[in-house]
Amino acid sequence: MYIVKRLRLFALLVAAVLLTGCTKAAEEANDPELLLGFSQVGSESAWRIGNTKDIENSAAQYGVSLMFENANQSQENQIAAIRRFIAYKVDVIAFSPIVEDGWDNVLMEAKEAGIPVVLVDRTIETEKEDLTACLIGADFYNEGVMAAEYLIRKADSLGLDHVNIVEITGTENSTPMLQRQAGFADTIADDERMHILESIDGDFLKSRGAECMRYLLETYGDDIDVVYSHNDEMTLGALPEIEKTDMIPGRDIIIISIDGGQEAIDVLKEGKINCVVECTPNLGSELMETALKLKEGEPVDAVIHPTEQVFSDEMDVSTIGPRGY
Ligand code: AHR
Repeated sequence: MYIVKRLRLFALLVAAVLLTGCTKAAEEANDPELLLGFSQVGSESAWRIGNTKDIENSAAQYGVSLMFENANQSQENQIAAIRRFIAYKVDVIAFSPIVEDGWDNVLMEAKEAGIPVVLVDRTIETEKEDLTACLIGADFYNEGVMAAEYLIRKADSLGLDHVNIVEITGTENSTPMLQRQAGFADTIADDERMHILESIDGDFLKSRGAECMRYLLETYGDDIDVVYSHNDEMTLGALPEIEKTDMIPGRDIIIISIDGGQEAIDVLKEGKINCVVECTPNLGSELMETALKLKEGEPVDAVIHPTEQVFSDEMDVSTIGPRGY
């Protein structure tokens, strides 16, 4: 009888401990350390899809509860998403602005609500102070510089004395478009061999890359020596158009791309792209660490740029490992 009583008491104690544990786990699930609202630009490229995946995986890894909204390439949708995050009283807002202008009003609302805002991937243009806490994203200007430096080396090695370039740019007025264009233009400015025949808006889309390339080939034909394309998606759209002519990309036309996704790297290995400047989409862990600091009121770096590299026919391309996006 005594033993039965002791066993009952032991069972009750075990149940109590388990119950307390469960309640605590349930409390933590309902009340995560951080609620982060993130508005993504869209799904226009392998880069963007990789970036979304990385942010979702990092949120899970850091125990951050993520409210994710895809704006499907619309600034209006992004503004509406940010307003929903404010109404929901998230701890931190993050977003990748599709274009640089037009954010002042909604960011003032976030500021008035006391919610810190992190810019991811792209920046904004504003006269107002302290609308955002920081920027986590690539140094797009330097990507343009690295693309141009490759071209100058390539022209030297081929002994070219006149180089006609066509540029297929990303979404008009977006940070990567503006800065990749400026970095490239500034770097070739003093090289008299370099001539930009035309810059044309490809909106970071594969279909637009194909359309732009069709137009450029119709207009300039085999005068084109170089295609400088602001992302892999547009490059991959442009290549089949060149292949429809009697020119071979990578041999008759120098192809320079930006991003470094798996598909473009495979094509670089086939020799149809000459150079790919890396732009990493893996910004998730920096974002989670920064958001956690902001929630605690800790200081954060104003600008965080990941380190990036150049993949090109100047190297042994067989050594490039899987890209993951
Ligand atoms: O903002 C980063 C750019 O946006 C990437 O280069 C491009 O692929 C994406 O759509």
